[in-house]
Amino acid sequence: MASKPDATQLVIFGASGDLTHRKLIPALARLECAGQLGSTVSIIGVARREMSDDAFRAELEAAMPQGLEREGFQSLKDRVFYHSADVTSTADIHALQTRLRGLSPSGDANTGRLFYLSLKPELFAKTLGSLAEAGMLAMENRDTPAWRRVVVEKPFGHDLASARTLNQYMHQHLREYQIYRIDHYLGKETVQNILGFRFHNTIFEPLWNRHHIELVQITVAESIGVEKGRAGFYDENGAMRDVVQNHMLQLLALVAMEAPATLDGDDIRNQKVEVLRALHLPDPADLAASSVRARYVAGEVDGKAAIGYLDELGVPKGSQTETYAALRAEVDNWRWSGVPFMLRHGKRMKKKFTEIKVQFRTPPVQLFNRPEGLSDREFRKKLRDGSLCQVRPNILTISIQPSEALSLSFGVKRPGANMVMTPAKLNFNYEDVFQCESAPAYQRLLLDALIGDPTLFLRSDEIDASWRYSDVIIDGWRAADARPISEYPAGSWGPEEADALFEGCEGGWSRG
Ligand SMILES: NC(=O)c1ccc[n+]([C@@H]2O[C@H](COP(=O)([O-])OP(=O)(O)OC[C@H]3O[C@@H](n4cnc5c(N)ncnc54)[C@H](OP(=O)(O)O)[C@@H]3O)[C@@H](O)[C@H]2O)c1
Repeated sequence: MASKPDATQLVIFGASGDLTHRKLIPALARLECAGQLGSTVSIIGVARREMSDDAFRAELEAAMPQGLEREGFQSLKDRVFYHSADVTSTADIHALQTRLRGLSPSGDANTGRLFYLSLKPELFAKTLGSLAEAGMLAMENRDTPAWRRVVVEKPFGHDLASARTLNQYMHQHLREYQIYRIDHYLGKETVQNILGFRFHNTIFEPLWNRHHIELVQITVAESIGVEKGRAGFYDENGAMRDVVQNHMLQLLALVAMEAPATLDGDDIRNQKVEVLRALHLPDPADLAASSVRARYVAGEVDGKAAIGYLDELGVPKGSQTETYAALRAEVDNWRWSGVPFMLRHGKRMKKKFTEIKVQFRTPPVQLFNRPEGLSDREFRKKLRDGSLCQVRPNILTISIQPSEALSLSFGVKRPGANMVMTPAKLNFNYEDVFQCESAPAYQRLLLDALIGDPTLFLRSDEIDASWRYSDVIIDGWRAADARPISEYPAGSWGPEEADALFEGCEGGWSRG
């Protein structure tokens, strides 16, 4: 696989939209700056609005942050073009084809094309249909220089049925290896490092199972509420569809998967999908004990008053959509049977952070700091909640954002005459060690799509398995006899009910 794309046209549908301006073009500009794009790559933005190439370039330039992005864009901008087209019009797509041919000095037979659908999901099928009808998706074999690939943004379906319909539709026009379904979490350095950390180092892998791990906790906490202008879209989805079904289940899969035979994209995805398929589908009657959904009410975030979800502009009256989801998931396989995977995502929480905590079992016998007369159970409980002494379980924390770091907590003897153990930490921080910030996720993902490496993109069976699990939860929450949605003040740690999910584990939700 080449490290740089050959003659390529990147066609971005939705070129005047937010994602293109904020993420895609800045990422491409950074690739240009790093010399990874190559002078034979050109970018053709497509949207309905009439605009000249120069007007488009000026608009993008104005949106470019200072620094690498601006510098890269200067060098890239002569290879950026604009074409006005409505993706629902076959005539417009034919005109686009003519334009693309005209802009390709090497000719159709020697130019690869990446179609990026940065469009509303309702337009995905129509766009693909129009492209296919014009013969623009045809590809003879994997190795042809005239390759055709399609990048699809999330959300990929609204539930299992719609995701399957979309997948079936895509497979009518494309082979699976032409489809790049993006989950931008997989483009993050720390997320990719989960695989490296697990399968390059030998010290943790023997412990990475139900015998030694008590629980795994994954948090994606946001302090913002619904974004301006997106309330309508958000309300149709909620926390479960927006974040848990995709990003969080991907994190879970990376933590729980078996070692792949090679780093080939399909070997890795085969292992991830096995985990997603092994997710225990809870009985609706058990949902109250294994899940909590909630929405934020008025509160205070960073010292400022914040309104509740139902008062946000654009949220329909009487909405039952959750802005918080907490789950006690289980992976029913030999490695993980009985280990809770605690998943939590919420908006308007006290602090913004994304992390994974792997909590190891405590020693079978506690030798230290045990007051006389305390039962074993009481002693263990007090150790865990910290009320007795500072001996806690070993915890490996993988911080994904805002800091990108790894830390391992363990106990050491406090200096002095008594054997009193106290917690200590080994810390590794990406920025401190490598003296540079990690590249934005879209930078890595765009390069991979351009060079044809699908490893960090989702395969249809992963999407299927994720929806299969998520649908059970969402349908259970919507059932007539379901527990009513809980509430939590904006700027808090979420609803108290979620603490009960730790029943029997004596741990608690991370505070980042
Ligand atoms: N923004 C983000 O941060 C973000 C993050 C994750 C995923 N996404 C996903 O990325 C996609 C794009 O999001 P966005 O926020 O960029 O949306 P957006 O700001 O609403 O932009 C939509 C774009 O589509 C174009 N468009 C709409 N109808 C069209 C048609 N019939 N033919 C051709 N172009 C058409 C619009 O331009 P005209 O009106 O001029 O045609 C505009 O350029 C969505 O699927 C979204 O869920 C976005």
